[in-house]
Amino acid sequence: MNEGKPKEPTQPEEGDKSSRRDFLLKLGVGLNVAAGAMVGIPVVGYVFSSFIKKPELQWIGLGKLGSFPEEETTLAKYKNPFHRPWDGETADIPCWVRRLKGESFQVFAINCAHLGCPVRWFAESKLFLCPCHGGAYYQDGSRAAGPPPRGLFEYETKVEDGQLWIKGGVLPTLANNP
Ligand code: FES
Repeated sequence: MNEGKPKEPTQPEEGDKSSRRDFLLKLGVGLNVAAGAMVGIPVVGYVFSSFIKKPELQWIGLGKLGSFPEEETTLAKYKNPFHRPWDGETADIPCWVRRLKGESFQVFAINCAHLGCPVRWFAESKLFLCPCHGGAYYQDGSRAAGPPPRGLFEYETKVEDGQLWIKGGVLPTLANNP
């Protein structure tokens, strides 16, 4: 009988040790690959995003011709065709519609060509004025005064089926509307 004798700790077998080491090694490699992918994929996507084809502009109906009185400038709104469900109200894009005579229209982006503040139309003075730095534009959208380097950005328009249409989707900027 050897009741008083302490038990010798059993040594793990060499096979057990190496399989545990292999498992931990594989786990470590797997975690590193996953972490690398989580960081790397967005970075690669960002780098190559400029080569990926951007969505095209689309013809968007702004409303019946009757909703735009002749020789007046009115505010209209359209839904960005490339909006996402979580965009909410930011998918509604305002623009200024100037109807000259008959089917002759000009539609301007609401954003000032300086730093993008929304411009307002003042019918009495026949000017678009920007509240941010005092930029001013004539009724045809050309630059009148202040810091804007150019006139208001203008949408391509057409009249079809008794409706006014604009080509929109990507907001006009100096990059796509020089
Ligand atoms: S943003 Fe309109 S003048 Fe600066």
